[in-house]
Amino acid sequence: TLAQSSLTLHTDQAETKINREIYGHFAEHLGHCIYGGIYVGEDSDIPNIRGFRLDVIGALKDMNIPLLRWPGGCFADTYNWKDGIGPKHKRPSMVNVHWGGVTEDNSFGTHEFLDFCELINAEPYINLNVGSGTVREAAEWVEYVTSANISPMTDLRKQNGREEPWNVKYWGIGNENWGCGGNMTPEYYADLYNRFAGYCRGDLYRIAGGPNVDDYNWMEVLMQKTTRHRQLVQGVSLHNYTFTTSWNDKGSATDFDEKGWISVLDNTLRMETLIERHSTIMDKYDPEKRIGLIVDEWGNWFNVEPGTNPGFLYQQNTLRDALVAGINLNLFNNHADRVKMANIAQTVNVLQSVILTKEEQMVLTPTYYVFKMYSVHQDANLIPANLKTGKYELDGKSVPAVHASASTKDGQVSITLCNLNPNKAESIDITLTGQEVSSASGQIVTAKNMNDYNDFGQEEKVTLKSFDVKKPKDGKLTVEIPAKSVVLVQLK
Ligand code: AHR
Repeated sequence: TLAQSSLTLHTDQAETKINREIYGHFAEHLGHCIYGGIYVGEDSDIPNIRGFRLDVIGALKDMNIPLLRWPGGCFADTYNWKDGIGPKHKRPSMVNVHWGGVTEDNSFGTHEFLDFCELINAEPYINLNVGSGTVREAAEWVEYVTSANISPMTDLRKQNGREEPWNVKYWGIGNENWGCGGNMTPEYYADLYNRFAGYCRGDLYRIAGGPNVDDYNWMEVLMQKTTRHRQLVQGVSLHNYTFTTSWNDKGSATDFDEKGWISVLDNTLRMETLIERHSTIMDKYDPEKRIGLIVDEWGNWFNVEPGTNPGFLYQQNTLRDALVAGINLNLFNNHADRVKMANIAQTVNVLQSVILTKEEQMVLTPTYYVFKMYSVHQDANLIPANLKTGKYELDGKSVPAVHASASTKDGQVSITLCNLNPNKAESIDITLTGQEVSSASGQIVTAKNMNDYNDFGQEEKVTLKSFDVKKPKDGKLTVEIPAKSVVLVQLK
């Protein structure tokens, strides 16, 4: 019988690199992402090194986390970095006005963040305060962290125990400056951007605060005004969250039926239109694709779990989240010529997390296993692919049955396939041109029910398992992708 879908891979044309930063993460001072999730302090009974949870460090390293963005988010435009350095007992406290109005003691600051990044082997990405901060404060932060000169800022760093500068390349200049980051117009923000970026010196990768979802005018104005000074902008951010229906009807993370399933998948696929339309605007001002589109906040945003603080954005994570992760990561891979980095929101205990913690316990979510599976694409070359697939439809909604991307690294071809249909397996004929293959292996993330999730103290319901793939014959093979699953096929 003929397969329902087909995928032709032009292995001999794999020229675009998939930056490993596409597999990046985001950790904000929000709920229990930093405090409790990543950092518990040295005096905690929870096993830690210098206050950082050992279980979380191990899990993030195993997942091959390449990059971490901090300290926000909306929090970034309220943050005074100088309150977070020096002896901890002398650091002033602060109120986290955006997230629950809780008082924080500033025990997790610049040194702690950069220490944590070293522990998990991730590249740091620091977001500066434009909304409520000054150009001088931002410039001093960059100098404190990166400069090798003799100066008051580098003296201060040395006094605080760090002799050598850190190598921090990625700097965000403000966050959501159309909203929580200062309620600015694009014209005003673009002018401010040029000021801030000009004074943040060094060989930096500066990321401008980009549009909200489909605000194409913001992108147009920003590109037009900032690219006049070519060396000042290296990346522009884009934020896009997925809700069950809309911001006003986010829906439950776990309690949904098939309508809720297809609605979320349909909404998340909108990422492709956003990337394409924003890229078209960027192409006008930057045809050589020198400037990266940095999707530094993406993922599912559902209602908080019943009984939890509404300001903490704590949500569970099901097989549906695994599909959303797989689809978005495929999309970023497929647009790797423009998308140079992406950061799922957020690493631990907030929104679409890879890790959840409860006191000393830790759970790895379905999203975690997709990131782990997809890490084979990091720094691999994208294989141009031709996918033919049918549709999965329900309730007036229509999405592709199969979603895919493929890459090659060191002679190994990795294909990631999502079957969006929760009721039906899909067979797919895969053809490789330009490479002989003789062996095949696979992995899979799936579960019995579409809303299965992993919970504290229980056996995992959604995890990464090995998946049987038949040996290819003459560069061809057929794979049967089980209903509602994310699959990796590797060929060599
Ligand atoms: O990730 C949660 C919040 O979503 C971030 O702080 C903000 O940038 C966005 O609105």
